[in-house]
Amino acid sequence: MDFEGKVAIVTGSGSPHGIGREITRALTEKGCNVVVADMNLEGAQKNADDLNTEFGCDSMAVSVNVTDADSVTAMFEAVFAKYGRIDVLCNNAGITQPVAIADMTKDDFMRIMNVNLVGTFLCSKLVVPYMVKNSYGRIVNTSSVSAKCGGGVYGGAHYCAAKAGIIAFARAQAMELCKRYKDMITVNCVCPGLIATDIRAELSDEAEKESRAKQAMGRAGTAREVANTIVWLASDEASYISGEDVNINGASYFG
Ligand SMILES: NC(=O)c1ccc[n+]([C@@H]2O[C@H](COP(=O)([O-])OP(=O)(O)OC[C@H]3O[C@@H](n4cnc5c(N)ncnc54)[C@H](O)[C@@H]3O)[C@@H](O)[C@H]2O)c1
Repeated sequence: MDFEGKVAIVTGSGSPHGIGREITRALTEKGCNVVVADMNLEGAQKNADDLNTEFGCDSMAVSVNVTDADSVTAMFEAVFAKYGRIDVLCNNAGITQPVAIADMTKDDFMRIMNVNLVGTFLCSKLVVPYMVKNSYGRIVNTSSVSAKCGGGVYGGAHYCAAKAGIIAFARAQAMELCKRYKDMITVNCVCPGLIATDIRAELSDEAEKESRAKQAMGRAGTAREVANTIVWLASDEASYISGEDVNINGASYFG
């Protein structure tokens, strides 16, 4: 896989141990120019600086709130102004909340839907004109195994619904884009199972223990194992795959 000359934006890539950071590293290793985009600008800048120091590349950090259309537009404008193209968008920003439906407020529900689903909608919609400019695009969304089998209290039903919505939205967008642009832009999702990252800091020790006990391989997945699949879906090699969702859960769940 060769990403030389290509430009990828990875949202939610500003945390120190997250899946997003690992996606930016895996893409950079393949020659891609990477934009580290996050609401946490300090974290994004640190990750971009690390990439530039380690790989001698020209990575850029951008502050973005994926729930805000103006902020998303400003991000795409800034990236296009610097690199003149946007080839890959990884919609990876996400939040979860360990709460049972009985205790869930409407504000809880809307907050989780906003970041995970509305954020994916806004970024996926607003990036298309930039991809069309260069007749090429790959959109890869981070959904979750929770979209398919429920998340229990540690996943939260609102999180499950948002992540399932991402899969349905991606299928619809994949079909719309194919009808209009043939094979120019593909849209796919990954559905990670239990992955060792900071997002799980929200979970109680008991919930963490319970979710680890369910892992068929006896371990959580790594952020790199998720990133590897995302990079492949973002590559030229995956040119006839669109509207698909790929499970990454070490045989813990099939579906
Ligand atoms: N870790 C897991 O077990 C697991 C499993 C399945 C899916 N996922 C998904 O993977 C993705 C990455 O999660 P992670 O585990 O690396 O977590 P993480 O907390 O390390 O990363 C999430 C990032 O999203 C950013 N973010 C939050 N709200 C934002 C907003 N409004 N705008 C822009 N950025 C925002 C955060 O600042 C953070 O850097 C998420 O979508 C998550 O739902 C994680």
